[in-house]
Amino acid sequence: MNAMQKLLGWVDERFPLTATWKAHLSEYYAPKNFNFWYFFGSLALLVLVLQIVTGIFLVMHYKPDGSLNAAGVPVAFASVEYIMRDVDWGWLIRYLHSTGASAFFVVVYLHMFRGMIYGSYRKPRELIWIFGVIIYLALMAEAFMGYLLPWGQMSYWGAQVIINLFAAVPFIGEDLSLWIRGDYVVGDATLNRFFSFHVIAVPLVLLALVAAHLVALHEVGSNNPDGVEIKKKKDENGKPLDGIPFHPYYTVKDILGVVVFLIVFSAIVFFAPEMGGYFLEANNFIPADPLKTPEHIAPVWYFTPYYAILRAVPPLLGSQFPGVLLMGVAVLIFFALPWLDRSPVKSIRYRGPIYKWFLAAFVISFIGLGWLGILPATPLYTWIARGLSVVYFAFFLLMPWYTKIDKTKPEPERVTG
Ligand code: HEM
Repeated sequence: MNAMQKLLGWVDERFPLTATWKAHLSEYYAPKNFNFWYFFGSLALLVLVLQIVTGIFLVMHYKPDGSLNAAGVPVAFASVEYIMRDVDWGWLIRYLHSTGASAFFVVVYLHMFRGMIYGSYRKPRELIWIFGVIIYLALMAEAFMGYLLPWGQMSYWGAQVIINLFAAVPFIGEDLSLWIRGDYVVGDATLNRFFSFHVIAVPLVLLALVAAHLVALHEVGSNNPDGVEIKKKKDENGKPLDGIPFHPYYTVKDILGVVVFLIVFSAIVFFAPEMGGYFLEANNFIPADPLKTPEHIAPVWYFTPYYAILRAVPPLLGSQFPGVLLMGVAVLIFFALPWLDRSPVKSIRYRGPIYKWFLAAFVISFIGLGWLGILPATPLYTWIARGLSVVYFAFFLLMPWYTKIDKTKPEPERVTG
């Protein structure tokens, strides 16, 4: 026995290191037919780590202070400029973090879509899905609060618009928005509390949720592109016949995903960090000015589908509440998915044409709404957004009906590769 093995033995007697490695990696059996869509869970983990590490370095120089410096520029805004111009490699750390925010949503949207096409939210994976939707909500809160921190015009006015939405809630709205802001307008108090939430509270919640997400996943095992439960067919040693050890097979596969992701990600960070105004908006290079409202205020791309739904709903008796409510429901409805789907099969491979049409219409509505949410609301666009909102909700609300009547193909006994 060499020194390394002795050390490992010493640790194993006191802490289940080898046992954990085996249970979750070298002897954790995952379906052998994972495909492209299964890259995005590990990529989401990668981006989470990237955001935390770059965030730690940004906080070393960033100052959450809305007051004006000697040059008449808000201290917070000036500290970001300082990071960009004077801190060694500061520009890289900041662009990694700002591009990472958009990458997070790209990866998570694809990850969620995978769950939808393969029915991964269905029994017994409802809790994996529910933890996922809570992660999605936390991620939205994290991105929204982070966006205020550079204290540019878009940071300021975007926050003003979104926090004002809470004022539309009947009875408690005014108090609620005041409570969130900590002032009558977005100000230093808002900046400080958003900083606190963005830097510590929400990341802690996110990490805990991701841990719960993975614990639930390893309890029931992964779904796969066939939607077949591999645990149903085991060999004489109790190993799933259609399973392969996660390590080394999927660690190697995931590394391929990481390499391709990093190539695309670096190309954006180094050559187009603003991404034509979609990742970093031009107005945010102007310091926040409470006396000057920008002409066109739009949220960052990952929020625009919901923003379009908000704007599509006409006010009721002068109140914006119906729009706010519908926007909230549009996000929360994802929680209900496991119970709305009545199909006898999980994967899109064995579903019938009606489901496929509804799913295609849903994807078009989501992308269409996202596009409309970026543009100024003209009467024509508002009507298109209304139509697309109806399609968006029809996908969910009619699901119990169309998944039941759809003509499905029989699910195979074993995965098909
Ligand atoms: C920080 C964000 C997230 C991280 C780090 C994360 C991580 C992971 C990982 C590593 C896996 C296993 C690998 C894979 O199946 O791709 C997974 C599976 C899964 N995740 Fe996530 N996830 C996140 C967000 C979400 C969200 C927002 C949802 C849904 C709303 C979701 C739903 C699922 C489901 C249903 C599975 C099981 C998929 C299957 O077995 O087919 N996740 N997640």
